[in-house]
Amino acid sequence: MTSTTSAEPTRRDFLYVATGAAAAVGAAAVAWPLISQMNPDASTIAAGAPIEVDLTPIAEGQDIKVFWRGKPIYIMNRTKKQVEEARSVNMSNLPDPQTDQARVKEGHDQWLVVIGICTHLGCIPIAHEGSYGGFFCPCHGSVYDTSGRIRQGPAPLNLAVPPYAFVSDTKIKIG
Ligand code: FES
Repeated sequence: MTSTTSAEPTRRDFLYVATGAAAAVGAAAVAWPLISQMNPDASTIAAGAPIEVDLTPIAEGQDIKVFWRGKPIYIMNRTKKQVEEARSVNMSNLPDPQTDQARVKEGHDQWLVVIGICTHLGCIPIAHEGSYGGFFCPCHGSVYDTSGRIRQGPAPLNLAVPPYAFVSDTKIKIG
């Protein structure tokens, strides 16, 4: 009798423990894919991660093109003359009025950073082309100035400025 009563709880305990363990394993199996799905996959990280760009190889008057989130980004080291031209423009002559100062970072006035996608239908404009010395879009003839502002043609808006910051005098982080 004694042995029966002592054996019974033992068997029941085992069943509880076994059931509990199975439930815990089941919960973990359900939870893991949910937790796993919350992490961006590698291609998402690659596509959206900020990039750092060393500016030292870009001579005055030249530009480079880099890619961020699959978009071409122009980084232009403007000459003093180009900056002066961009700043001497009468705002009333601009289809999308914006001062040059609002499009660059204070203290780094020579550096223009813009997304190289025409705001008309998305072609990639050519740098240092067009009658304003900024960008020319060969698709339908939009002309942008040395601040990337639209001056002629069908494009309605200035070239967009991506989010970026100077991490040192010679390096920027885009994104
Ligand atoms: S896409 Fe650039 S002018 Fe049309």
